[in-house]
Amino acid sequence: MKKYTILPSVLSANFTKLESELKLCQKAEIEWIHYDVMDYDFVPNLTFGSKILADIKSNFNIKVDIHFMVKVKTIVFEDFFKDYLKTNPEMMTMHIEAMNSEQTQKFIVLCQNNGVKASLAISPGTDIVQLKQYLPVIDNVLVMTVEPGFGGQSFIKKAAQKIQTLADIRKANDYQYSIEVDGGINEQTSKVVKKYGVDLIVAGSYLFGQKNFIERAKDLIYND
Ligand code: DX5
Ligand code: ZN
Repeated sequence: MKKYTILPSVLSANFTKLESELKLCQKAEIEWIHYDVMDYDFVPNLTFGSKILADIKSNFNIKVDIHFMVKVKTIVFEDFFKDYLKTNPEMMTMHIEAMNSEQTQKFIVLCQNNGVKASLAISPGTDIVQLKQYLPVIDNVLVMTVEPGFGGQSFIKKAAQKIQTLADIRKANDYQYSIEVDGGINEQTSKVVKKYGVDLIVAGSYLFGQKNFIERAKDLIYND
C-alpha cells in the first residue's frame, strides 16, 4: 500500500495556538508542513515572511515546503530567498507564471546548490507545456487545484487531471520529480488525486480547526 505524504497548510491554522496545532500534526504522524507566502501582487492576499517559519523550524523537527505565491522584485533575484534559506527548508516552490525563463533557471540552481528540493507550481489555467523544459531537472511539481490566494476554495477537477499527465510523462522519460497537489482537498477529492498518481497532498481547511484532525490526517496518509 502506498503511503502518501501529507502537508498541512499552516495558512488554515489558528495562529494564537500554533504550537498546539503543530503538535497535533506530529501526533498524526505528519512529517511535513506547507507554508504559503503571498505578496498581494502575484495573488490578491498577503500572508507571512520568514520569521514565523524560522520560529517553527527552531522549535519543531518538521520538514517544510515553502509555497511562494510572489513576484520577486529584489534587484538580485537570489536575494529574495536568503532569509528563507536560512530556515533550512526541505523544498521551495515557485510559480512558473511568476518568473521568466532566466529566473526559473536561477531558482532551480539556487535550490539545488543549497540542498533544497526545487519545485515549480502551476496554476489551474496554465498548460503543463510551460513546465516541459524543466521537468528533467526539477524535484517536484505542485499542481494547483484552486486559484492560488486563499484556503477553503472548491477543488477544480480539470486542473487535477494534470497530475495524471505529469505521472505519464515521468514514466515515459524516467524523470525523477514528485507530484504534489494543493487546493480543495477533502475526503472525496483526495481519492481523485490519488487515482491520478499524486505523491504529496496539501490540505488546509480539511485538517486545521477540525475535531477529528488526526483521523482525517491518517485517512489521507494511508487510504487510497
Ligand atoms: C492557496 C494555498 C493553499 C491553501 C490550501 O493558495 O496555496 O495551500 O492553504 O487550503 P485548502 O486545503 O483549504 O484549499
Ligand atoms: Zn499552497
